[in-house]
Amino acid sequence: MQLKLFESEAAIAAAVSGILIRQVQTKPASVLGFATGSSPVKTYDAMVQAYQNGLVSFRDVVTFNLDEYCGLSKTDETSYYAFMQSHLFGRADFQQKNIHFLDGNAVHAEAACAAYRCEIAAAGGIDIQLLGIGTNGHIGFNEPSDSFSDGPFQVHLAQSTKNANGKYFKDGAMPDTALTMGIGDILRARKLLLIATGESKAKAIRAMVKGEVTPLCPASVLQTHSDVTVFLDAQSASLLAEEDLWQRN
Ligand code: GLP
Repeated sequence: MQLKLFESEAAIAAAVSGILIRQVQTKPASVLGFATGSSPVKTYDAMVQAYQNGLVSFRDVVTFNLDEYCGLSKTDETSYYAFMQSHLFGRADFQQKNIHFLDGNAVHAEAACAAYRCEIAAAGGIDIQLLGIGTNGHIGFNEPSDSFSDGPFQVHLAQSTKNANGKYFKDGAMPDTALTMGIGDILRARKLLLIATGESKAKAIRAMVKGEVTPLCPASVLQTHSDVTVFLDAQSASLLAEEDLWQRN
């Protein structure tokens, strides 16, 4: 696991978008896994900027998002699909036919999850998966539990997740469940980039980097992947020792 410390969110966005853009310039039909939440927003802005400046085209890029709330239609402004449209897909030349999402509105969640797993495999797997991290160490919506899941599944959201994300929903209308890629899906991506900023992430980052590998802190499983880069600011890195950052850079 490579840990990188940055001075600002803008510097993180420049670094992460640079990696994603170079990937697409080298392989226009790259398969990219995207995340939602506040962590990747500036990275998406930088990707849009690069597209507008004519430095990159995303028309052949195939995308898979990590997760989606259950019971929201794609047109619901609080769905993760709508989030991706407004922050990235709708602002550049991504093609709808290349965009893949877990169907949180599916009548049969299990079938939707199985289909998603097949779609990822049929695309040849994910070249680069972008990740954030929850304050409880969740990645995607893999909440702390007693086992790691392999493929996509339906999850009951933890109370801490509802507290953190409730602000996006009117009158406590936040769904209780979501569909998410499993830990196995995330680990099968060939390269992982994780962004964490702010003090609220410091404990989760420490557990992810220094703690034992346990489903009680789902992000700790990233210790077992051979190509993970973690992008931190001073606050999210505040519970790590300086030597942790140096040794792993
Ligand atoms: C959300 C998402 C995750 C995201 C995380 C952190 O619940 N399901 O994919 O990485 O929580 O969100 P944020 O970046 O807003 O802190």
